[in-house]
Amino acid sequence: MKWTKEARYRPYSMMTEEEKTALTETVAHSPWRQTFHIQPPTGLLNDPNGFSYYDGMYHLFYQWFPYGAVHGLKHWYHVVSKDLATWTEQGLAIEPDLPHESHGAYSGSGFVHDNKLHLLYTGNQRTDEWERVPNQALAVMNSDWSIEKRPLPLIANSPEGYTEHFRDPKVWKDGDTFYFVIGAQRDSLTGCALLYKSSDVLNWELVSEISTTYADFGYMWECPDYFELDGKGILVFSPQGVEAEGTHYQNIYQTGYLIGSPLDLKTGEFQHGPFHELDAGFDFYAPQSTEAKDGRRIVIGWMGLPDIEYPSDRYNWAHCLTLPREVTLADGKLIQKPVQELEKRRGKGTPFQHSNGETTLDAGTTYEIKLEFSSIESLNYGIRLRTSETEQTTLTFDQTKNMLTLDRSKSGEVPAQAYGTTRSVSLDGEKLTSLQLFVDTSSVEIFANNGQVVFTSRIFPQEESTGFQTFAKQGTVNVTGTHWTIS
Ligand code: FRU
Repeated sequence: MKWTKEARYRPYSMMTEEEKTALTETVAHSPWRQTFHIQPPTGLLNDPNGFSYYDGMYHLFYQWFPYGAVHGLKHWYHVVSKDLATWTEQGLAIEPDLPHESHGAYSGSGFVHDNKLHLLYTGNQRTDEWERVPNQALAVMNSDWSIEKRPLPLIANSPEGYTEHFRDPKVWKDGDTFYFVIGAQRDSLTGCALLYKSSDVLNWELVSEISTTYADFGYMWECPDYFELDGKGILVFSPQGVEAEGTHYQNIYQTGYLIGSPLDLKTGEFQHGPFHELDAGFDFYAPQSTEAKDGRRIVIGWMGLPDIEYPSDRYNWAHCLTLPREVTLADGKLIQKPVQELEKRRGKGTPFQHSNGETTLDAGTTYEIKLEFSSIESLNYGIRLRTSETEQTTLTFDQTKNMLTLDRSKSGEVPAQAYGTTRSVSLDGEKLTSLQLFVDTSSVEIFANNGQVVFTSRIFPQEESTGFQTFAKQGTVNVTGTHWTIS
């Protein structure tokens, strides 16, 4: 299909029944549909939006273009969950139909105010000359889950000193005041985040740019998020335009965080340490967090990246979201663990163990495995998953280099090869002692050493590639583990 401007900017409400049936059929022929991840019914999913706990449920939305695997007119699609383990599709939530969002209801966040879920997002407008005008817009979800939009934007255009790249407000409340951080580009074409405040959620005032030591770090910071853990302030953002450096910043765009003293809400001053990447895998971007009903900080990311083609595109759908992860702080870094609720999805559990390191299982295509490596006497050990005679995805720990490496060069169809087919990360002097992995039809999320390092990646193997192996070279390790089917 040729993506003319008209085809790209068509609202969902114009989709005919015939189009819907045809699209749904093409999607159904895809060998890579996921089974326990949030994915679009048709078309393209990108950033998670509006993640919040409201009215006894977790509400989550995502950026959605319904007509195909391209970045066209963005809508918000709504899913809900009682427990973060199983999600129910609620369908379309926001269709951009107002002038200030003529070219997309872009990313934003959710917060509860006056017993209603408020959704503050960026209305992406284009002029006849195709100039971009970013507007910050508000929609309010009532207790019957109907959504009403404010007819006019709360903030029109970007502030003085910043370009039209000004988007993705993430709101939180501190005392009686609401704040948001928002991604921006300075007139000097460098990326940053700005801080806004409001006492009534309608009138917002720019506090300041958030001052960091990363004054020249990429050309745009997308989807910033700010939260506090253990008395520390954490600023997460997705910078674009950061050059690869050794094993760092290998993806087309990055996602990472700064940890510091709590952000000064009066001045925007942020005293912080170094930028750390949040995920070591191939496909992770634009995460968004919320506070769970019991106070845990939960993060969900987009398991994909902008400006990259994926094998599922030819089936008219693209991307999925990551599993929800609980984030905590340890030794100056964020630790990410799959939320405990995911244990509910475990089906039959099969324990296994091996004493010289070599294990082979027929694990299937959708499962969870937890592994422990003990009495390690090998310089090089790891796992292979989704294996067959021709395919494998490999995670290797090289003790000499202290590096953990994920290799998807033989995973099946390999996207983004221009950005390499391996990703490596240092384990900071520790050995690899445990792995928890979630394998779905076309993805793998690997949590190493209880969330010290996480690799999130799409893989596109054949259905027959169901093998799972552990291995040890130059010596042995003892392995004990459990394999669970996921229902
Ligand atoms: C990040 C992003 C956001 C924007 C949205 C549009 O992937 O580019 O900055 O709001 O996607 O879909």
